[in-house]
This record gives sequence, structure tokens and C-alpha cells, in this order.
Amino acid sequence: MATDLSTRYLGLELAHPVMASASPLTGSLDSLLALQDAGASAVVLPSLFEEQVEHDYLSLGSHFDDEAAFNPEAHGGFFPALDDYNTGADQYLSVLTAAKNELSIPVIASLNGTSEGGWTHYASTLEAEGADALELNIYHLAADSDLTGEEVETRYLRLVEQVRSEISIPLAVKIGPFFSSPSNMVRRLEAAGADGVVLFNRFYQPDIDLETLDIAPNLQLSSPAEMRLVLRWVGIIFGRVGIDLAATTGVHDAEGVVKLVLAGASVAMLASALLHHGPDHLRSIIAGVGEWFDERGYKSLDQARGSVSQRSVADPSAYERANYMRTLTSYQAQ
Ligand SMILES: Cc1cc2nc3c(=O)[nH]c(=O)nc-3n(C[C@H](O)[C@H](O)[C@H](O)COP(=O)(O)O)c2cc1C
Repeated sequence: MATDLSTRYLGLELAHPVMASASPLTGSLDSLLALQDAGASAVVLPSLFEEQVEHDYLSLGSHFDDEAAFNPEAHGGFFPALDDYNTGADQYLSVLTAAKNELSIPVIASLNGTSEGGWTHYASTLEAEGADALELNIYHLAADSDLTGEEVETRYLRLVEQVRSEISIPLAVKIGPFFSSPSNMVRRLEAAGADGVVLFNRFYQPDIDLETLDIAPNLQLSSPAEMRLVLRWVGIIFGRVGIDLAATTGVHDAEGVVKLVLAGASVAMLASALLHHGPDHLRSIIAGVGEWFDERGYKSLDQARGSVSQRSVADPSAYERANYMRTLTSYQAQ
């Protein structure tokens, strides 16, 4: 009998664990439909950025004789009242509405920001427009050397608490890997109200243009080798928290998805591989995942999930420092 690939993520029942992550491919109805046709079990829309919301908010503020409009801390009733205004945020809503009307798979909206403030009220607008869940991408670069690690973490937690208080749909938090104690951070995100975490945000590194001496943004798609970092932390964190783990970065093929599920992921998300090969690439990945589990006689994905996590493997140190020593030594012995 074929393996039951169904999985639960953020309380959503998904046919299998292969999702489309936020990228330009999830930003238009045509490509969203192509992703659904190719078999994506759910989609995450591109992020609406704090800066976009604040920009709309402040430029509108100059037209209103309303003090609240100038106060980024202001809460209550302002954003929903702007529904008819033609703004960047409005365009976001039109994609969300179209996606909800035309797609049968779950649609997860995404907000991307770093600070507490009035902009987070937009989460409730996304909920009202029918988003099945919200992904909050906290893309914060702690460049200020006065800021301690504890202060950075507190900032994350406050933001999560604030967004959580705006909505009742499930909330996933997408974070980067640069915490002193990622496991502890995920536990605290759970306590702050997250229903899931998306590991890990891929930070885009600046480059220097040697002709102009400018800092050049230079986006490169991921490579499969980048998945290792995610695999390690999914494997370590699985079983230590009660919330769902989603994996992103470096997932390019069926083998990658299988490994992440074995480590403990509820879902694996793809962006770079789909941008490179197109939405149809999903078909072979989904088929490959099914074949791998079928051939080994797994009844369900639940049976496999976390079976190679740190808490289940015979040698848990393989996820930790001992493995580092062994890896270096084995290379010298080659
Ligand atoms: C062109 C591009 C645009 C992206 N836009 C977003 C975005 O709006 N919000 C977000 O949370 N992630 C965004 N991402 C990150 C992806 O969702 C994904 O987490 C990251 O690319 C790592 O996965 P991958 O290795 O499959 O590409 C973007 C990635 C790319 C390549």
C-alpha cells in the first residue's frame, strides 16, 4: 500500500509535505495556479514588508488630520479603513483575494519586519481577507554593537506577541540561524504564541562592485549543500518543542525533502529550485518522495517524521560537536 504522505502544518491538513515558499513565483495568480497544478500542497505568498505598510501609512497620514495616522504605535481601526486606497499593501490584498478565490490549497500570507508598531495591525487585515495562516518573517540584522543578544531576542518575542494578539489564524515565524541557542529561541517563540517556525531565513549577503566601489545587491539562488544547516537544527529541535517545524533553504530534490522529514520537519518549502526549473519541477519531487517511502514500506509520513532526529538516533552526538571532530578526521584519512 502506498505511503500516506499527508501532513499537518499549522493545523492545516496538507496532501504531502512539499510546499512553495515565498518568492516571485507565488506573487501572481498565474504562477500560483501553475504551482497548484504541479502539485504544491500549500503556498506562501511573498512578504508584505513593514516598510511598505509604514510607507502607505505615513503618506496617507499626511492627508489626514488625525494624529493616530502619524503615530506608528497607534492601534485600532486604521488599516481596515484603508481597504479602498490604492497602495502597495492594497495590491498585496488583491493577490491574496485572487489566490483564495481560485486556489483549493491553503494560502499562507507573509509579513516581513523587525519592529513593534502599528504596521503589525495589518496581520488582521490579511486574516480578514481569508489567509489560512500567517508567516511572520523577522529579518533583523543586528549591526548595532550596543545591542545585546538578549535585546535582539526580546525584540523578536515582543513582535511575535504583538502579531499573535492581532490574529486568531495560525502563526508561523521565519527566523535566521544566527542565535546563540537556536533551540531555546524556538522554545521561547512557542511561548510567545508561534504555532510553527520556518527554519531558516536565507540572508542575502552584500557584495562589493570593484568597478564602482558600491555595495551591490547580488541575489544568488541557493545550492543543495545549504540544506545541511537546516537539517541539523530541525533534527536537534524536533521533540523539544510542541510546535511545527517547516524547513526552507537548499531544498532542491526529493532526497532533500525525505531527509528533512526524517529529521522532523512537517513540511519542506522550495523557492530557488522552482525559480530555476519552473513549477513543474514539483511533480518529480513529489513523486520521488512518495517512491522513497513506498519502497521502504512506511505506512505514513507520521511514522517517518523525526525518526532520524537527535532524540531518535542511536548516537545523538552525531548532531553535535563529536560529529565535527569525526568529520574533520575522516577527511584527513581519505
Ligand atoms: C527572489 C526571491 C524572493 C524571495 N522573497 C521572499 C519574501 O518575500 N518573503 C520571504 O519570507 N522569503 C522570501 N524569499 C526566501 C524564500 O522563501 C526561501 O526561504 C529562501 O530562498 C530559501 O529557500 P530556497 O533555498 O528554496 O531558495 C525569497 C527568495 C528569493 C530567491
